[in-house]
Amino acid sequence: MRQYLLSALLASAAGTVLADDPAVESYDYIVVGSGPGGGPLASDLARAGYSTLLIEAGDDQGSNKVYSELNNFNTAGNDERSLWNFWVKHSDDPERERKFEHYVYRQENGSYYIGLDPPAGAKPLGIQYPRAGTLGGCAMHNAGVCSLAQDDDWNIIVNKTGDTSWEAPKMRKYLIQVEKNLYVTNGSTPDHGFNGEFHYSSLAQSNDSDGKAYVSGTGFLSIDTSDARWARQKNMPAVKILQEMAKLTGQNESDVANLVTKDILGNYPNKDEQSSFYAMAQHMDALGRRSSPNTYIRATLNDPAKYPLTVKLNSLVTKVLFSKEGETPVATGVEVMQGKSVYRADPRNKPDTKGPLVQYKAKKEVIVSGGTFNSPQILKLSGIGPADELKKFNITVVKDLPGVGENLDDNYEGSLLALGKSPVGGGFITMLYRTPNAPTKKRNIFTWCGPFSFEGFWPGFPTDYGQNEYECAMVKIGTTSRAGYVRLTSADPRDPPDINFRFFEKNGEQDLQEFVDSANLLRKAWQAAGDAVLPFNEKHPCPGTGAGNCTDAEQREMIKTQAYSHHATSTCAIGGDDDKMAVLDSRFRVRGVKGLRVVDASSFPVVPGAFPVLPTMMLSAKAAEVIIAEAGKV
Ligand SMILES: Cc1cc2nc3c(=O)[nH]c(=O)nc-3n(C[C@H](O)[C@H](O)[C@H](O)COP(=O)(O)OP(=O)(O)OC[C@H]3O[C@@H](n4cnc5c(N)ncnc54)[C@H](O)[C@@H]3O)c2cc1C
Ligand SMILES: *[C@@H]1O[C@H](CO)[C@@H](O)[C@H](O)[C@H]1NC(C)=O
Ligand SMILES: *[C@@H]1O[C@H](CO)[C@@H](O)[C@H](O)[C@H]1NC(C)=O
Ligand SMILES: *[C@@H]1O[C@H](CO)[C@@H](O)[C@H](O)[C@H]1NC(C)=O
Ligand SMILES: *[C@@H]1O[C@H](CO)[C@@H](O)[C@H](O)[C@H]1NC(C)=O
Ligand SMILES: *[C@@H]1O[C@H](CO)[C@@H](O)[C@H](O)[C@H]1NC(C)=O
Ligand SMILES: *[C@@H]1O[C@H](CO)[C@@H](O)[C@H](O)[C@H]1NC(C)=O
Ligand SMILES: *[C@@H]1O[C@H](CO)[C@@H](O)[C@H](O)[C@H]1NC(C)=O
Repeated sequence: MRQYLLSALLASAAGTVLADDPAVESYDYIVVGSGPGGGPLASDLARAGYSTLLIEAGDDQGSNKVYSELNNFNTAGNDERSLWNFWVKHSDDPERERKFEHYVYRQENGSYYIGLDPPAGAKPLGIQYPRAGTLGGCAMHNAGVCSLAQDDDWNIIVNKTGDTSWEAPKMRKYLIQVEKNLYVTNGSTPDHGFNGEFHYSSLAQSNDSDGKAYVSGTGFLSIDTSDARWARQKNMPAVKILQEMAKLTGQNESDVANLVTKDILGNYPNKDEQSSFYAMAQHMDALGRRSSPNTYIRATLNDPAKYPLTVKLNSLVTKVLFSKEGETPVATGVEVMQGKSVYRADPRNKPDTKGPLVQYKAKKEVIVSGGTFNSPQILKLSGIGPADELKKFNITVVKDLPGVGENLDDNYEGSLLALGKSPVGGGFITMLYRTPNAPTKKRNIFTWCGPFSFEGFWPGFPTDYGQNEYECAMVKIGTTSRAGYVRLTSADPRDPPDINFRFFEKNGEQDLQEFVDSANLLRKAWQAAGDAVLPFNEKHPCPGTGAGNCTDAEQREMIKTQAYSHHATSTCAIGGDDDKMAVLDSRFRVRGVKGLRVVDASSFPVVPGAFPVLPTMMLSAKAAEVIIAEAGKV
């Protein structure tokens, strides 16, 4: 591989411009980041015949069973081979931060301390927000839960930009395009995609990286549901709970065994107003193997058609490069620092590790897909962002764009967690519903219940409470705060940014009350399930065995200090021409420059529904269509 070492160029701080050197490798498109935003997009561009370079900071763990078996997601989430630890804040108030039960400190001897009572000398780090720096991005360590955006999460883009191609009904075609649905009968409905043809020839047996997966055409993402036949056992405690949940949400309690098989990705009129059970859908194949952008990228690389895709691993993009000519800056390539674990969010990083710098040239465009924390960081390091912030770090302003890194959105999450007197049984079920007194007709909570514990993230998560644990995890849909930010801590591309979600900053009391109403409703269902289940020893939000032995105010306070999240979006948001906080137009183009787009979860103006991974892959498919259509016109 030819490398053009740029130490001299860098030393003169002129690294914002592409070197005029024929040794610089050149591609039609450069895509930065291989997650649900960038991975499918790079594969699609290569399949359309364009030479495409996909640059990924991490390496490829796709054949490692920790990642390839979806059930290992908790191990994957803690695995240092992919882990990027961001230590984030939830508010501006340091005292409130330290009340977070899993707040993380670094002790003097280097170990973590996690909790409320740190030893003397322990240095506060923050609240852990894990990301996966690896081929496939966070789709490699997530739980693979698939759900659709609310229709209005797409429609809001139409309202903001006037681009009617974002109308909700039109977005379904991207679901059909990306999915290879395994739980609906092939061909039985036009609302799903079935035709991806994956052949995992050796992935199943081998754990090395020569696993070959071939895909022809679209439909790279296998989606399947888990077996819910247990729900037919009327006397199982878990089923009693379902029956009570059905009663409280206007569903037929005699029909739960059927209801829990409902298609969560189905095309129902007014779906966003329906309170209903669904089968939990996950991006996996029929054997429970993780299907993801990683499998698509590898299939594209391995296809006998020899698509022009090049992947560079262990390559941290430090900035986008621009040409100097003309009035509007044009993105012409990227600068990369080579090496493993050079990013300081990587727990394996040694702070002084530094790799050689190289440049790559983009003949057509650069597409940034580093995810909600890294895309704004990359733009800012490249001189695109709020001018004042850039000047503070002596970064030459290429384009003053105040919205970059602002508008950070996320679902709020919490859980009703308890220990039964004996195992409650059952598996995962999903319910989307509207809490009593919710401000609109739309459902506002996604809950998934089962014999597990999930209480957010910290090094070593989750806690195992034994075989009697039972939880309904709750995800708040349609949060309206969006007051968080991602800002630089230095001009060194190896330093993670300062991330503050500023939870509940706007509309906080309303969102908290909806959360409390949700906990109260679910607890009521548990209590009504009777002797088969009780007593339930609740851990939170209302500790103890006395049902509702807490006021709403106490629960609100608990949720306010203990809520967590892991679906961050919207830091490079699409917006209208008249919106000075808009970062992108409706075709993903970064405003004020040419040849540069952002395609990932940061592009959404609002968090899409309750789970962003599938909507992000739909958005990625739309971006591929837009980019290929534009390229065809030239
Ligand atoms: C623990 C966890 C569990 C989750 N579970 C679910 C779930 O069950 N369902 C769901 O819908 N969502 C889930 N999510 C969220 C979902 O995975 C993300 O929304 C989604 O992956 C976002 O995709 P993305 O492409 O925007 O970013 P990412 O997935 O973060 O991908 C970004 C990629 O860019 C790379 N990158 C970043 N910076 C650079 C750089 N400078 N140079 C080169 N490469 C770079 C990163 O290494 C990474 O591979 C979960 C998230 C986490 C953290
Ligand atoms: C650091 O100190 C803590 C508390 O005394 C201890 O539990 C931990 O094992 C120590 N870690 C190391 C690496 O020595
Ligand atoms: C879009 O605008 C229309 C008209 O102003 C409004 O009725 C609708 O609620 C808006 N939808 C969204 C999703 O913002
Ligand atoms: C689904 O049905 C179509 C049409 O009959 C067929 O072409 C395709 O191969 C089938 N796909 C799978 C995965 O069975
Ligand atoms: C692959 O699996 C085999 C058997 O399980 C094991 O011995 C070997 O160490 C594994 N290799 C890698 C690279 O993980
Ligand atoms: C409720 O479900 C049961 C079992 O499927 C069915 O027999 C009954 O008709 C349903 N009731 C209503 C009101 O739909
Ligand atoms: C920015 O440049 C000025 C002048 O060269 C210098 O004094 C200052 O320390 C620099 N600031 C940073 C954050 O590097
Ligand atoms: C109710 O809560 C109080 C304190 O908040 C606790 O002392 C008591 O044990 C609880 N009662 C039950 C029945 O859980």
